[in-house]
Amino acid sequence: MKELTIETKVQVFSISEAPEIYKELIESAIDATANAYAPYSCFNVGAAVLLENGKIIAGNNQENAAYPSGLCAERVTLFSANAQYPDSKVLVIAIAAVTNGKQVEMITPCGACRQVLLEVEKRYQSPIKVLLCGREQIYIVESASSLLPLSFDGSSLK
Ligand code: THU
Repeated sequence: MKELTIETKVQVFSISEAPEIYKELIESAIDATANAYAPYSCFNVGAAVLLENGKIIAGNNQENAAYPSGLCAERVTLFSANAQYPDSKVLVIAIAAVTNGKQVEMITPCGACRQVLLEVEKRYQSPIKVLLCGREQIYIVESASSLLPLSFDGSSLK
C-alpha cells in the first residue's frame, strides 16, 4: 500500500500588507457584491479578475427562481472576462461575500467554480492566483489546480 498526501499552500496576509494591485482587485470584488442579484439566498458574492492586459473585470452572483439556472459570481466574472478579452490571460481572481450587511470571513469557491477556474488556467497555461477575501485578512492560494486536487481536465479527452 502506498499513501499519497496532497498539500495546498495558503498564504495569509493582512489586507494592509497586500500589494496595491491586490488591494484594488479586492476593492472591486467587494464593490461588486452590491450589485449581486441574490433575492433567494441573500448571500451576495463579488469577484474580480486581473487580466494580463491590465484590465480588471468584476461580476457577481445572479440567482434565479429556478435555482440551478442561476450562476455564481466567479463564473459570471470569468466568462465575462473571457468573452470580452479572449486573448488576455487571467492572472488573479479576488472573491468576497456579504450577507446580513457584513462581509463574510472567508468565502471559498464552490466545486463547479473551481472546475471553471481550472479550465481557464489550462486554457492560458498560466496559474491563476486566488484571493479569498475576509474582513481583515486575505487567504492566497497560488493556483486553481491547487484548489482542486485530483481534478478532471481536457487532457483526459485527447
Ligand atoms: N455563490 C457564489 O456566487 N460563489 C461561491 O463561491 C459560493 C456561492 C453564490 C451562489 C448562490 O447565489 C449563493 O452564493 C448562495 O449559495
